[in-house]
Amino acid sequence: MDFSLNEEQKLIQQAARDFAQNELLPEVIERDDAQRFPKEEIKKLGDLGFLGMMVDPKYGGSGLDTLSYVIAMEEISKIDASTSVVMSVNNSLVCWGLEKFGSEEQKEKYLTKLSTGEQIGAFCLSEPEAGSDATSQKTTAIDMGDHYIVNGTKNWITNGGTASTYLVIAQTDKEKKHRGINALIIEKGTPGFEIGPKENKLGIRGSDTHSLIFNDVKVPKENRIGEDGFGFKFAMKTLAGGRIGIAAQALGIAAGAYEMALKYSKERKAFGTEISNHQAIAFKLADMHTEIQAARLLVYRSALDKDNGKDYDLSGAMAKLYASKVAMETTVEAVQIHGGNGFVKDYHVERLMRDAKITQIYEGTSEIQKIVISRSILK
Ligand code: CAA
Repeated sequence: MDFSLNEEQKLIQQAARDFAQNELLPEVIERDDAQRFPKEEIKKLGDLGFLGMMVDPKYGGSGLDTLSYVIAMEEISKIDASTSVVMSVNNSLVCWGLEKFGSEEQKEKYLTKLSTGEQIGAFCLSEPEAGSDATSQKTTAIDMGDHYIVNGTKNWITNGGTASTYLVIAQTDKEKKHRGINALIIEKGTPGFEIGPKENKLGIRGSDTHSLIFNDVKVPKENRIGEDGFGFKFAMKTLAGGRIGIAAQALGIAAGAYEMALKYSKERKAFGTEISNHQAIAFKLADMHTEIQAARLLVYRSALDKDNGKDYDLSGAMAKLYASKVAMETTVEAVQIHGGNGFVKDYHVERLMRDAKITQIYEGTSEIQKIVISRSILK
């Protein structure tokens, strides 16, 4: 097993690090405060080729591997998880799903714009009563011959207000349960499609999370992804890769908080010496460093599984479960090491602590990851 990065991956890591420092850090606190979407920053991320990292260059992508993607996700997430969730959803849910399962026409029409960042995409599975229980879709897509009529509501949709292209999961045939579900591409502005209110969130406040309402929305048949009834499998297969991206986000949040705590502990003095000289602090740093390294190995492992064509349902779920736990624990400890300063916004770690929580919830809660892991090891 060789986890060392090649020259290209090191360059990507450096580019992501520079971008985070130069473009994201300066206004990250203001964006979080004002719940302001990083519009300009996302545009620049697209120019860097970070919004369609794994997409074939013939569709405007960067043609990179999953390992490069998780390395970039980690660096961006160290500074700004609100930006990295936009990057993650666009890369691994929307672009990957379209490239893997979309028709040639769909790729030409949508993927080329999404992979360059000319447009942003959203992945719409969750509903008021279908979060973890994702097969219980109430949104309907009734087959009308050459088109579908979509009705229903989606909740907590990342990029909900800013996206142009929405991948919407809906029930066509209730009798067939999850085998009667379809995934449809719905464009912003289609009559009957409304963007609901923006959510006021605990963390990732710069990201744009909305409910979506569909009232008799007419969607042409050619906008269905895959065969009739493929929608639930599409969602599951796409989310399996998405979880690797969120695991990398969690890793980045943890590593960012750790780096800040390490630096602070060498500057702040108490009882006549830098606080890093007190074992109470040094042992916290030792635990943080060890757990982050363990999380990184799981994240890299799952990315390599995907790149090597191996099954990554299990390794991706383990990476997300563990990295999100490490993110939560590390950020709490980073606030503790910062003491009173950790509780105020200027020092960043309180924001990272708030941002960490969502990594245990979206793209499958930690409990859902345990279902995936336990089913895999027991089967
Ligand atoms: N790959 C392919 N197919 C899969 C699959 C996978 N990884 N996992 C399940 N399936 C298939 C099964 O094979 C089955 O199909 P067949 O009957 O034809 O074999 C079908 O899906 C249903 O599977 P289950 O019987 O296992 O279904 P279940 O009701 O027990 O649920 C679950 C399984 C894993 C709990 C699933 O419901 C799940 O993942 N829930 C969480 C949903 C989730 O992650 N939501 C996140 C929302 S998106 C988001 O957060 C994005 C964002 O904006 C950041």
